[in-house]
Amino acid sequence: MRILLIGFGAVGQGLTQILRDQADYLREREGFEARIVGVATRSRGTLYHPGGFDLDALLDVAGDGRFDRFPQLDGLLRDQDIFDLIRMADADVLVEVSHSNLQTAQPALDYCRAALDSGKHVVMANKGPVALAYDDLMNHAQRVGKQVGFEATVMAGTPSLRLGMDALAGCRIESARGILNGTTNYILTQMEVGMAYSDALEQAQALGYAEADPTADVDGWDAASKVVILAAALFGQRLSLDSMPVAGISSLTLADIEAARAAGERWKLIGTATPDGARVEPVRLPANHPLAQVSGATNAITYTTDLLGDVTLVGPGAGPVATGFGLLADLLAIHRT
Ligand code: HSE
Repeated sequence: MRILLIGFGAVGQGLTQILRDQADYLREREGFEARIVGVATRSRGTLYHPGGFDLDALLDVAGDGRFDRFPQLDGLLRDQDIFDLIRMADADVLVEVSHSNLQTAQPALDYCRAALDSGKHVVMANKGPVALAYDDLMNHAQRVGKQVGFEATVMAGTPSLRLGMDALAGCRIESARGILNGTTNYILTQMEVGMAYSDALEQAQALGYAEADPTADVDGWDAASKVVILAAALFGQRLSLDSMPVAGISSLTLADIEAARAAGERWKLIGTATPDGARVEPVRLPANHPLAQVSGATNAITYTTDLLGDVTLVGPGAGPVATGFGLLADLLAIHRT
């Protein structure tokens, strides 16, 4: 499978590491061989080679952010216009991992459209296009006979969407409720042991959990975008971020955290989607509530269903390799079909 990668930040590098480190296992176990033939970023330029890149060499230039240091090779093209690259690249799939823009979804949405129009599948961790243009993308993909994978957009590689959309198919899902943002859960967990909010946020950024602009995390918009994606995928609802109640954790103080602890409770940022609506808000949960016990960048989702009652999935919700795995899961799904 030939991959064109748009974006080469923490998540793009996480996927690249996985493809390098798991190459033998994936070949033996799944018959899956991946080659990255192109990498495009708006700030560092582009690299394209139809034969594919040595992944160590790519990760090496990612370290200091300079594509101009990438060794010259026969057939290597640099610094193309990204749309031209998407259209001309000999690739099977576009992997979109540039920063999520939750206002316009651009330019990622147009990159996805250009990829579909030029016969490529699309797999993304970028939440903008799925949250803002779900129908548009799915209809477009169907029209051109290609697939759009977005498992990595909700709970990183923890298979929250596959659980709801595939494994629970046949149940009526009455609600999906959970901890959907790793950064805020990490901050709340660190504040419980006395760390200042700003220090905890800095750590979450250093660990590759936070969005490029972390206000999207702490003000609840990242969790809200995941709720919108769940509502679209599970309930066929078309919500917009500005039509639902959204609150984050930035106003919570150490005193609030301590007051909850003294009462045997914990603050959690909870996102909820039902067939009738959605919301994101900080909630004080009893310490023995299953969601209260989920700490650090771990996420959790509880599907309430008619046939099984509650089904809860807990797993990593952010981070380069955890999110890279969500992309790999979609690439394997395409490979298997
Ligand atoms: N910033 C996001 C989070 C990354 O902290 O959950 C995963 O979507």
